[in-house]
Amino acid sequence: MRFDVISIFPDYLAPLELSLIGKAHQEGLLELAVHDLRDFTTDRHRTVDDTPYGGGAGMVMKPEPWAQALETVLNLPARTPGIAEAGNAAEPPVLIVPSPAGEVFHQSIAQELSQEPSLVFACGRYEGIDERVLDWASERFRVRPLSLGDYVLNGGEVAVLAMVEAIARLIPGVVGNPASLVEESHQDGLLEYPVYTKPAVWRGREIPETLLSGHHTRIARFRRDEQLRRTAERRPELLAVMDQEALDRADLEALREAGYEQ
Ligand code: ADE
Repeated sequence: MRFDVISIFPDYLAPLELSLIGKAHQEGLLELAVHDLRDFTTDRHRTVDDTPYGGGAGMVMKPEPWAQALETVLNLPARTPGIAEAGNAAEPPVLIVPSPAGEVFHQSIAQELSQEPSLVFACGRYEGIDERVLDWASERFRVRPLSLGDYVLNGGEVAVLAMVEAIARLIPGVVGNPASLVEESHQDGLLEYPVYTKPAVWRGREIPETLLSGHHTRIARFRRDEQLRRTAERRPELLAVMDQEALDRADLEALREAGYEQ
């Protein structure tokens, strides 16, 4: 899978070279390129912004550098054999535009995007990118405006760091033990259960007795109850949208004990 990120702060994306994603990049499990938007300007000052039509505060990103950058990325050949070329796929590549005005990014979106051969990310700054760019781009890409959450960041870079990490870790081989992807928060619509390691008593605090029992069915039930209890307490709205078929009698009992009202 291939990731192309366009930003006026390419150094902001340097952490993608660290840890599991960086290792996956080095090993050729994924392709990653960060492009400086200013390289696609033509004036001496490498200008990427201008004042907004209609007035108002702040600056707007100019359309032309974006069109040049996006066209260039579309025509880049695949650098690693076996990784799909962005422009040659059966469908146009996905262009992710991080924005607080986008659809909220979610584990199910990460899952869906991890199946794509390539993803392009356009990091806006200032008040955003001239809207005509998105309209123009929609003839060449499948454009997805995505938000990290209901708060405002200074630009798309932090959102891209989060999204690339959430997506790339779902690519087979990126996370060493694939089983660790299964038992995580949001993977089954519930929050993760609490985890403990040695020592068995730490600063007077013991670990839940069931975890020492060696009884797999009881441990699984304990963990499931903890997931349900936590979700009811911290994120009740997740339970409300959960497929009720996925809850058995023991689940409903655990929810009742947690004080969750259906
Ligand atoms: N850019 C600014 N704020 C953002 C947010 N909440 N999500 C994604 N991109 C953004």
